[in-house]
This record gives sequence, structure tokens and C-alpha cells, in this order.
Amino acid sequence: MKPQTPPKTYRVKSFGCQMNVYDGERMAELLGEKGLHSAPEGEEADLVVLNTCHIREKAAEKVYSDIGRLVKAGEEAGKAPMIAVAGCVAQAEGEEIMARAPAVSMVVGPQAYHRLPEMLDKAVQGERASDTDMPAIAKFDSLPQRTRRSPTAFLTVQEGCDKFCTYCVVPYTRGAEISRPFGDLIAEARRLIEAGAREITLLGQNVNAWAGEDDKGHDVGLGGLIHALARLDGLERIRYTTSHPNDMDDALIAAHGEVDKLMPYLHLPVQSGNDRVLKAMNRAHTAESYMRLLERFRAVRPDIALSGDFIVGFPGETEAEFEDTLRIVDEVRYAQAFSFKYSPRPGTPAATMVGQIAREVMDDRLQRLQARLNRDQLAFNEASVGKTCSVLIERKGKHPGQWLGKSPWLQSVWFEGEAAIGDLVEVELLEAGPNSVMGRPLATVSA
Ligand code: 5AD
Ligand code: SF4
Repeated sequence: MKPQTPPKTYRVKSFGCQMNVYDGERMAELLGEKGLHSAPEGEEADLVVLNTCHIREKAAEKVYSDIGRLVKAGEEAGKAPMIAVAGCVAQAEGEEIMARAPAVSMVVGPQAYHRLPEMLDKAVQGERASDTDMPAIAKFDSLPQRTRRSPTAFLTVQEGCDKFCTYCVVPYTRGAEISRPFGDLIAEARRLIEAGAREITLLGQNVNAWAGEDDKGHDVGLGGLIHALARLDGLERIRYTTSHPNDMDDALIAAHGEVDKLMPYLHLPVQSGNDRVLKAMNRAHTAESYMRLLERFRAVRPDIALSGDFIVGFPGETEAEFEDTLRIVDEVRYAQAFSFKYSPRPGTPAATMVGQIAREVMDDRLQRLQARLNRDQLAFNEASVGKTCSVLIERKGKHPGQWLGKSPWLQSVWFEGEAAIGDLVEVELLEAGPNSVMGRPLATVSA
């Protein structure tokens, strides 16, 4: 590769989960510290970081087509951008990307992106660089301070997964479970609050597996961390995602009844409502044990909004087994949910299982499942009409005087009136749609 002009502007394109978005923000902060600026909207960037996701289908093909598009646009403009591929596809297929896509200057995995600045120096000198090591904690220690100004912020507290669900690539792309130290998290939360965050969402592939030692030397889990964060002035709301049913402990459940700042919302994937399928998925819980867990949350926080993930068409799933999933949905009545067609991921045990399900069957099952989930989401929104709740304003709406934010139950709420981004406004909920609720502002609780 020829030496390249040092890039002045960058764009990070994130394609995946919230942790992928968090990683994208941190890469942007690293590039900012190196003197690069975010490319203005509508302008080509000198450096494009494709922050990829590998969880479901066609991720790799999408990367190659994105690279092709960037190369073509660069040729037309007479100036090719420098390209970096980051994220979980980079981790899983780094070598192949380097071999197949000569236009790519850098390949960097999700645990190695703190080395992006050095890699950029090499790339400028004409040396292609690839780094897919997994020194997870070292990464956090060498990232710059948080600078992103926004009323809501993500904070990665835990990374990686040791669960090895048979369909999932995460244990391979993100590595083993690690917890960031308590003190580092309190310090990062403080900086986020100083930069304007009023709500922090704690992130982890198995966020409720977080464990650490608090400032008094006591062993604590996520519940203890949440109690400590709730004591920080200026922080008004705490959320966490994604949890695994088998990592729930008494202290975290109790925190939902004890900590006012902890929002009444729980994302707890079940994947399937059938025990044979759950066993084949290596989920190590049953439909029944999952239901009992939800009951415990509802006992301490009766208004808790529940959310989950589902996979339809796992290898061998029969019609009757799929109907168990519909049944659990009918029982739980989720406020929100995410549902996916099973996608065979290379290298995972399920990809080679017998009984792969035909596409049409998966399409049909997904449609039937989503019809029920949509029904329940609308019902949840309708049931909130007449309630009064706080809304944290995240952005302006399309029309003048219109504001958009989130209710404690993570519903999108909009209203017309006086407000500013970052305000917490008391809102009476008036009218429900499938994806949002319209309200009337009563008062600004805190600006
Ligand atoms: N196919 C379909 N969905 C998947 N998920 C993870 N791996 C796969 C796969 N191979 C879903 C799960 C998980 C969510 C993040 O993505 O439901 O909870
Ligand atoms: Fe994947 Fe299962 Fe780990 Fe979640 S718990 S990241 S679905 S292996």
C-alpha cells in the first residue's frame, strides 16, 4: 500500500447493538484526541470506520459491499477515503478482509480499538495493520476521557460472554466475560455526568454478571453498583442491558424496589418458550424458571416494563415447540421485544445441527410472533394513557415546539410545549400509538 495523506476528518458507522454504538463513540473520541474532526453531515470523510456487527446474517457480505461503495465513491470524487473495519466482523474475519479487500488499511477488533491511533500512523506510512487481540481491560485503561455531550449515555461495565448459547457468535467475537473495576466505572460515570448525562445505561453482553469490589472492599454485584451510582448527584436515571436469566441475583432484583433512579424496565431475553429448544440452545434455564424470575421482578416493582429477545426457526423447532413461544408471549405481555429468524453463524454448534428450518417456515413464524408482540406493545402503550410520568428530553421533534424523550418505561413520548434537551418534564400521557405516546407537559421537574 502507498503512503497516504493523514486524514483530517472521520466518520464512524456503527451497525450493531448498543455496545457496538458505545465502541463507535469511543473510537470517535480516540480519533478526536488525535486531532481529527467528525466529517460534517453530507460531506465525504477522509477516514471511514465501518464498525460492524456479526450477530446475524450477511454481515460479512455487507462489509464487502460497503467497502466497494466507498471505493467507487472515492474514485468518482478523485480521492479515496482511508478505510478501517472494526467491530465483530473484523474480529471474526479479520484475515480474510485483509486478503480480500486491498482498499482496507486497518482491521481492528472490539477489544483492540484503543490501538487505532498507532494503526493510523502506520497506515499513513503505507503499512496495513490488523489487530484482533483481546486484552479487554487494557483497552479501557488507554481510552481518552469521555467527552460526548448528551443527556443519555452508555457505559460499558462488562464485556464478553461465557454462556456459549449454541447459535451465538458473541463468545467468539467478544471473548470471555470480564468486569470493569468499580472505581473506574464510578469515575467514568462522574465524567459523563459532568459532560451532561442525566441518564446512564450500563452495558454488557451479560451485564448482570458484573461483579466487583466496592470502595469499602466488599464484593458487590450489579445491584451494589447501581446503589453506588444512584448516590451520584446529577444522575437522574439508571438503566442496564442485556441480562441473562441465570445471572440474576437477589440484590439486583431488590434494587428495583429500592432505588428510585433505577428505571422500571427489564430487558431479559428468553429466546424460546420451549424447554427442548432452550436445552438445544444451551440456555440452561427453562420457560418455567424464566417466568418465576419475572414474577419476582413484578413483586418488587409491579409497573416494570418487560422486554425480551426471541429466535424463531432454531434447528429442529417444530410447530408445537414454536407455539410454546407464542404461549410465553401471551403470558408475559411484553412492553417491547426483539424477534429474529435464526441465522446460522459459521463456527457455532447450531450451524451444523440437523433440522435446519426452511426460510418460508421461519418467515411465517416470525410474522405470527411479531403480530402478538406488536399487539402487546400497543396494549402497553394504551394502558399508560392517563398516567403522569417524567420524560427525559432527548431531541427536538419535526415540528417547531415539538419535543421527544423517553418515559421511565422506555416508551418514546412526544409533546408540544416549552422544553430543552436534557430537561426532565412531568408529562400526562394522552394518546397511544404502536411506537410512541403523545402527552401534555405539566411542569419541568428539573432543567
Ligand atoms: N440468529 C438469530 N438471532 C440471533 N441472536 C443471537 N444470535 C443469533 C442468531 N444466530 C439474537 C438473540 C440475542 C440477540 C442479541 O440476537 O435473540 O439475544
Ligand atoms: Fe450470545 Fe447467549 Fe452469550 Fe447472549 S448469553 S451473548 S445469546 S452466547
